[in-house]
Amino acid sequence: MRVDIVTLLPGIFEKVFDESVLGSAIRNGLIEIVLHNFREYGDGRHRTVDDTPFGGGPGMVLKTGPLISCLRDVRKAAAPAPVIGLTPQGVPFNQKVARQLAQFDRIILVCGRYEGFDERIVSEFDLQLSIGDYVLTGGEIAAMTIVDAVSRMIPGTVGRQESVEQDSFFAGLLDHPQYTRPATWEGKKVPTVLLEGNHAFIDDWRRKYSLLSTAVNRPDVFRVAEFTEKDRNLFQQLLKQNSETRP
Ligand SMILES: C[S@@+](CC[C@H](N)C(=O)[O-])C[C@H]1O[C@@H](n2cnc3c(N)ncnc32)[C@H](O)[C@@H]1O
Repeated sequence: MRVDIVTLLPGIFEKVFDESVLGSAIRNGLIEIVLHNFREYGDGRHRTVDDTPFGGGPGMVLKTGPLISCLRDVRKAAAPAPVIGLTPQGVPFNQKVARQLAQFDRIILVCGRYEGFDERIVSEFDLQLSIGDYVLTGGEIAAMTIVDAVSRMIPGTVGRQESVEQDSFFAGLLDHPQYTRPATWEGKKVPTVLLEGNHAFIDDWRRKYSLLSTAVNRPDVFRVAEFTEKDRNLFQQLLKQNSETRP
């Protein structure tokens, strides 16, 4: 997959895209990142890309000319691709969107700065994405978040694909609790079932606590999740366990 990132701060991506799982995916050719600094399209001697807002008010707004010229060149540089503007007004980015984006051979991410984009730039976007209900100083961290989450959906990026499929949100629920050695830490014991090697019991325990974690931590996710008959039984077992242990 090729990801083009249009930004005023290409240097910010270097370390993030050089390390860890993402770095290996890039070195192994699973993902190609191409950075474009739209400052190069800026006006005049100072390569200006922003101007004061019409109607007054604080801050600066990204001008149409430089960014749109850059975007048009980026679009033409390789196969057709959706142009995705990163904005707080965008569709909320989540695991489902990550899986959908991973189906594309190429995507283009556009990072804003200052007070954001002139609205006529927004009309050049095929989609706007937001990474959450808060305001960042620029779209670069949003772009990193999206590239990281999307790359995990590309087979081969993460060592064992099952680990991705068991992650939170992939199958509509949060992940189950995880433990590693030692089996007892400061008096806190790992649940016995995980130490006994019966994989059917382990699977049931994990599913049960995945259901519980989702119900408690994210009722909004739980409400729209799809359940099997077995899930209902496991959940009933949890409720029974809880009523038996209550004082
Ligand atoms: C300071 S913000 C502009 C905020 C804008 N004035 C507003 O209130 O919607 C500058 C840039 O950061 C990026 N950004 C900020 N918050 C974001 C979010 N939650 N998701 C995606 N991008 C975001 C966008 O590219 C935005 O153009």
